[in-house]
Amino acid sequence: MITLAIETSCDETAAAVLDNDGNVLASEIATQIDLHRAYGGVVPEVASRNHLLKMRPVLLKTLEVAGVSLPEIDVFAATAGPGLAGALLTGNTTAKALALAHKKPFVSVNHMEGHLLSPFMSQPDGICPCVALVVSGGHTMLIHLRGFGDYHLCGSTRDDAAGEAFDKVAKMIGLQYPGGPEIDKLSKEGNPKAYDFPRSMLSREDHDFSFSGLKTAVLYRLDKLEHPLEACRPDLCASFQEAVVDVLTKKTLRLAQSLGENLITVSGGVSCNSHLREAFQERADNAGLTLLIAPPALTTDNAAMIAYVAWQKAQRGLYSTLEEDVNPNLKLVQATHVV
Ligand code: KG4
Ligand code: ZN
Repeated sequence: MITLAIETSCDETAAAVLDNDGNVLASEIATQIDLHRAYGGVVPEVASRNHLLKMRPVLLKTLEVAGVSLPEIDVFAATAGPGLAGALLTGNTTAKALALAHKKPFVSVNHMEGHLLSPFMSQPDGICPCVALVVSGGHTMLIHLRGFGDYHLCGSTRDDAAGEAFDKVAKMIGLQYPGGPEIDKLSKEGNPKAYDFPRSMLSREDHDFSFSGLKTAVLYRLDKLEHPLEACRPDLCASFQEAVVDVLTKKTLRLAQSLGENLITVSGGVSCNSHLREAFQERADNAGLTLLIAPPALTTDNAAMIAYVAWQKAQRGLYSTLEEDVNPNLKLVQATHVV
């Protein structure tokens, strides 16, 4: 079963093809970051228009790299949400049109399920029970994953998502969009102990997060800097990043231990962060837990993770109708499809 998936939930136009066994044959991404950088964030209308421009070249390139032609595709899939409505529609409608034209089934995929399952791609044991942390630009979720389609949401952010906090703090200190990779880079030259930023919700027993207090603490600190901002930036970045990573690692490990799960997974754009990856590895090793984090290329938005979910669903006969619409607010619990 050859699967082709399209992902256009935000500002990446992406397509991927998986082979019969779920291996990635091709995964192409055309990023629009340079276009949106001038505005300091993603402009929905600009994103939709550019998806339309990039869709055909990205699809053709993906098929070329995979070495397959459209009639050889057995399943067409696309992201249905969450994301920007206009952006979602471009990829979703393209995949549906291809499915219709080639008389093949269509599978609708929840973007967050793509992130959630991405660490399992190319793992010999496939999807295993674990505690999963999903940290992206719009979501911060702690999930007890008991099997494919069996997801229990244990905690989430009460305000900003972790990636959103990275992007907003970066903007505050004069770094360009998207802020996560910029803070990651600058932190390497900074001292993570230079500023004692708050670790919100860490002392609480629940599994929720909050990052808006940390963001405000950085903002207030900017008024009291002992040196010009330029000189303080690396220390500000490293201290902020340390506070985020500290909360994410400790709360994830705590949940795994309380549920008796010895596998933890971390996914989503923020899991590209180099310090987060190192800290998780070190703390999981110390706690005797196994850690799975997707390779960096699969952490930020891509269509390979969407194709992987579609491949899992198609194997179980979980096809979608062409009437199934996109949903900008699609929830992961709606992805629950125990079979
Ligand atoms: O998963 P993703 O590509 O898109 C969403 O589904 O939201 O995540 C994007 C987020 C952005 O907030 C971006 O700043 C953050 O992931 N990000 C990072 C890094 N790379 C991307 N955050 C911290 N460190 C990074 N290296
Ligand atoms: Zn994403």
